[in-house]
Amino acid sequence: MRPVLISGVQPTGKLHIGNYLGALKNFVDLQNSGRYECYFFIADLHALTQTPNSKDLSRNILNLAIDFLATGLNPDKSVIFQQSQIKFVQELKWILSTLTPVSELLRMTAFKEKVLQPLKYSEREKITKEKFEKIIEKSNFGLAEYPVLMAADILLYDAQFVPVGEDQLQHLEFTRTLARKFNKKFGKILIEPKPLLTDVPRLMSLDDPTKKMSKSQPSGCLFLDDSPKEIYKKLQKAVTDSGKEIKYDQKNKPAISNLIKIYQVLSGQTVKNIENKFKNKGYGDFKRDLAKIVVKYLAPFQKKKKQLSGQQSKIKKIIEAGNKKANQKVEKKMEIIKKKVGLIF
Ligand code: AMP
Ligand code: TRP
Repeated sequence: MRPVLISGVQPTGKLHIGNYLGALKNFVDLQNSGRYECYFFIADLHALTQTPNSKDLSRNILNLAIDFLATGLNPDKSVIFQQSQIKFVQELKWILSTLTPVSELLRMTAFKEKVLQPLKYSEREKITKEKFEKIIEKSNFGLAEYPVLMAADILLYDAQFVPVGEDQLQHLEFTRTLARKFNKKFGKILIEPKPLLTDVPRLMSLDDPTKKMSKSQPSGCLFLDDSPKEIYKKLQKAVTDSGKEIKYDQKNKPAISNLIKIYQVLSGQTVKNIENKFKNKGYGDFKRDLAKIVVKYLAPFQKKKKQLSGQQSKIKKIIEAGNKKANQKVEKKMEIIKKKVGLIF
């Protein structure tokens, strides 16, 4: 039997090239390797923690399903489904939440980032303990519970591998700890999953190479849907470092290194080759060439997306079939878990 691999993406808006290079491209490669039993889902319950309105949420769910297919996920090779349609995840989440100290959830980096999102970066950095506590009193409980639901997503499928970007590593470590805790108390039945990272686990913002590229900061993102004109414009505006050299040096030249990384992965050329190619040229030449590469790379994705956008009912059917398979996969496991816990006797 092949090992199970699972990952989810939140339907919270357009995908950027960080999502792609850190996660989705890897999903497709791992799927096509044929080495895993693959499950990929739309994490709609996690997206609810951002309190979207219902129209936006539904549109984003459908859009993400289209993005999954347009990047190359294939329902004949992977189970593609919607998190909220797997009711057993909620049951396991509840059981796991009773093994989780509240303080652990409030310490999570992603939780802190999300509750502090409305503040300016400068304010976030020097926030006092008292002010932070005041803010979290008002934050929605789902944001704190977020990692418990994510752990249930993974553990219920007996997943051994979870491809994600670096920002999810803390949640995975939490999942592993939770599995150990459960196993110690009830018997060894949950598998501790391992993360799978790409060589671009944390792509940085075009605006600021000290911050990760993030949907919450759209001006620093290259979106997979961006038109050639937008791509040229955004790259032209992307911040660069002092000096003129096109050289990969993450410590001293973080901005240009970030752009070289994109160039490297999308063109398949080595860093050395890229450096040589631009030896006596400036940032302007490099950025124009990079824009050309990004536009060319994204064209097939954008074309496929256009085709799929007119096929809503076909996409809904794919998701429904995936939901059914995912439910079948976990039913037995949930029964075993409930027996171990003592809920079924
Ligand atoms: P999200 O949109 O938050 O659901 O993220 C989807 C996937 O993209 C997750 O596996 C993230 O870890 C990954 N990801 C998000 N932002 C970045 C980034 N800037 N660089 C690399 N991976 C990322
Ligand atoms: N938290 C993940 C993110 O923001 C999405 C997610 C939810 C996930 N459940 C998961 C990823 C289970 C991997 C496995 O990207």
